[in-house]
Amino acid sequence: MPAPQESYLRWENDRLILLDQTRLPQEKHFLALDSVEGVFEAIRKLRVRGAPAIGVAAAYGLVIGVREAPEASFDAFYDHLLKQKKFLAASRPTAVNLFWALDRLERKALSLRERPVREIKQALLQEARAIQDEDRAMTEAIGRHGLSLLQDGMGVLTHCNTGKLATAGIGTAVAPIYLAKAQGMTIRVFADETRPLLQGARLTAWELMDAGIDVTLITDSTAAVVMRRGWVDLVIVGADRIARNGDVANKIGTYGLALLAKAHGIPFYVAAPSSTIDLETATGDEIVIEERDPDEVRTCYGCRIAPEGANVYNPAFDVTPHELVAGIITEKGVIRPPYSETLPHLLER
Ligand code: MRU
Repeated sequence: MPAPQESYLRWENDRLILLDQTRLPQEKHFLALDSVEGVFEAIRKLRVRGAPAIGVAAAYGLVIGVREAPEASFDAFYDHLLKQKKFLAASRPTAVNLFWALDRLERKALSLRERPVREIKQALLQEARAIQDEDRAMTEAIGRHGLSLLQDGMGVLTHCNTGKLATAGIGTAVAPIYLAKAQGMTIRVFADETRPLLQGARLTAWELMDAGIDVTLITDSTAAVVMRRGWVDLVIVGADRIARNGDVANKIGTYGLALLAKAHGIPFYVAAPSSTIDLETATGDEIVIEERDPDEVRTCYGCRIAPEGANVYNPAFDVTPHELVAGIITEKGVIRPPYSETLPHLLER
């Protein structure tokens, strides 16, 4: 098992403590958030990012948001909770874990409606902690199931950041790699830099190097070449939302990677906890894809790299059709097509 990790997201003295990921790798700066606006801003600005971590942060955000809620009646409290929930839910649209975590807290409150409001507030904090603890355990289980796909000496290509920074535990797509390292295996990881916000360069390279894992940073456009050279045995990526039919929304560039993997005969896997599976969404066409500020593309670290006012299209995510996905590594096992049958079955287990 890996050594206990420094916690990048924790609840301490009634505040949410977060490592500000926008400042990595230059500095490790922690934020102490005690307002719902602060949590909203941290999610929207990607100070905390990655689907599972967004869910955990939003849950604590709602705990903060109901702190001042009226306690005289459940209805008044619930009204306040719904307003705070709606506010937090507007922070980012694509990762379903955000909505999943907020819904879970709302259901908890409703289940306790006969109890004093003060008690419900305490229970919501316990629920947020449970979400965090369960997420940690899920990442370990994803790692164990994903490990069955790895062999010593393999090359694995990954995209964006799906590790300790993106979850409450050891990550999703990189969790098997952490466990392989703990078992003494050598896996060579290729990390796409992940334009435009460079989660691969700034975050994945940083955290894998910190863990002593063999990681080679490549530009996104180098993926085809490393596959062609035979250096990649497996592609593993994370997910922000998995539709009922197995279509996968993940960081922009994932779809292109899946096509490249197919062209080179390389298996393409997705790793995600069951909280990322959204059976309410029938196909990837229904997933709302976040479009972000054009200046994220026109500039890099505050420096303009395109003509001022250049037209930009900047979707934060894309959808990989389920036909391109060899398997989905979850905390309950690796599931295979047909996903419209295996995904609902998985959630019933
Ligand atoms: O915009 P981001 O950085 O939040 O996007 C993150 C991703 O796309 C990850 O691959 C996904 O959330 C899975 S994280 C375990």
